[in-house]
Amino acid sequence: MDKLLIRGGRALHGEVPVSGAKNAALPELCAALLTAEPVVLHNVPRLKDIATMLALIRNMGAAVERIEDPDCSRPDARGVVRIVADPLHRTEAPYELVKTMRASVLALGPLLARFGEARVSLPGGCAIGSRPVDQHIKGLAAMGADIAVEHGYMIARLPEGRTRLKGACITTDMVTVTGTENLLMAATLAEGETILANAAREPEIVDLAEMLIRMGAKIEGHGTARIRIQGVERLGGCEHQVVADRIEAGTFLCAVAATGGEAFLRHGRVDHLDAVIGKLRDAGVEVHSHGDGIRVKSPGAARLQAQSFRTTEYPGFPTDMQAQFMALNVVAQGRSTVAETIFENRFMHVSELLRLGARIRTTDARQAEIEGLSNCDDNTEPVPGLSGATVMATDLRASASLVIAGLVAQGETVVDRIYHLDRGYDCMEAKLRGLGADVERI
Ligand code: EPZ
Repeated sequence: MDKLLIRGGRALHGEVPVSGAKNAALPELCAALLTAEPVVLHNVPRLKDIATMLALIRNMGAAVERIEDPDCSRPDARGVVRIVADPLHRTEAPYELVKTMRASVLALGPLLARFGEARVSLPGGCAIGSRPVDQHIKGLAAMGADIAVEHGYMIARLPEGRTRLKGACITTDMVTVTGTENLLMAATLAEGETILANAAREPEIVDLAEMLIRMGAKIEGHGTARIRIQGVERLGGCEHQVVADRIEAGTFLCAVAATGGEAFLRHGRVDHLDAVIGKLRDAGVEVHSHGDGIRVKSPGAARLQAQSFRTTEYPGFPTDMQAQFMALNVVAQGRSTVAETIFENRFMHVSELLRLGARIRTTDARQAEIEGLSNCDDNTEPVPGLSGATVMATDLRASASLVIAGLVAQGETVVDRIYHLDRGYDCMEAKLRGLGADVERI
């Protein structure tokens, strides 16, 4: 099992490329199932989850070709994938693939919309929460699908005599990112108009909608809470470039800020990170848009002011940035509170950060109080900073939080189980080394 060995205490400096967004590429690979024509996706990140999704689509019988498959020796090289989802031998997402990646549920809407049937394993829970898919099922049922849950699988089909889903006005009980994506994709081929009245507004959803429009879909309102789709008979192929990953960019912003460095994040988009950048600026970090990327300059860890925040749906502070910003608060000055409102169990990085010397108290599963380790007022004895230790990654963003803390901690930090990191970060150690970090995979 791979580990990362980090020798901390070095500020990050230089330029780093931001890869294509995992949470845009995953639904966009499934969107290729909506057409028999070739789809070419550019800027596909090299991630375990992408490999899993490609295996899932190949398992259905689609032709899947990695036209460009660069390795991490050139972190700014970009992957290109070509998919022809015709013919498909099966419209199924089997448990052994779905259990490793919940985003497989995104095959449900496209398969049902194009083939009138789908058999998709229930994803099961994951570390950060139970993460049900009841809203996906509710929405597809509203569009006329019969969906039964049998032996751990969702069995979806159209009723006798119907060859297409029918448009509907759907208000999900809560804002759901992949729920919105599943229903959006299904609606593109449904008969008539569909309204998603409580839609998620993430940039990844806007990127997916733009790709679907290139394929011939009729969509408006994407990026707002109310998306309108006029169904069409069929969709064509397209070429599409995956939007830059705002969470990877935000992760590097926190790493540069916490280590006291200065960097340029090529391809990063300031307009996708308003909430995070607002908090970084309040903390004393200089962040601004510059050409095709983001410039960031830290005041030095000792002068960072810890910032309280609470995670909410986009455009609020993203839950996927909660663990990373907590690591910054740990090394900053002053007290802060962090509230996690989206998932019920997304503080697993806390116990590992404590091993590095962080001062955090979780008042309940959704609220943590952090005592920063830097204090500039000279009249008190210096507070010991973080000290390196062996820590264990538990989920994707928790791993990133531990890496950030390890980059600051004095001495050696070993992050174990970094297969979690590999699911969502493209060539992380190569990119960090490019910024001057002393990190290696062992
Ligand atoms: C997406 O997950 C992302 N994954 C997650 O990123 C991200 O944390 C999450 O959105 C929130 O932004 C992908 O896009 C592949 P939700 P998703 O449906 O769609 C509840 C990462 O680190 N809910 O928006 O699964 C759910 O339990 C990953 O890259 C239901 O109850 O999240 C949660 O409390 C982690 N029933 C809330 O809604 C449903 O049918 C939001 O979940 C659907 C969701």
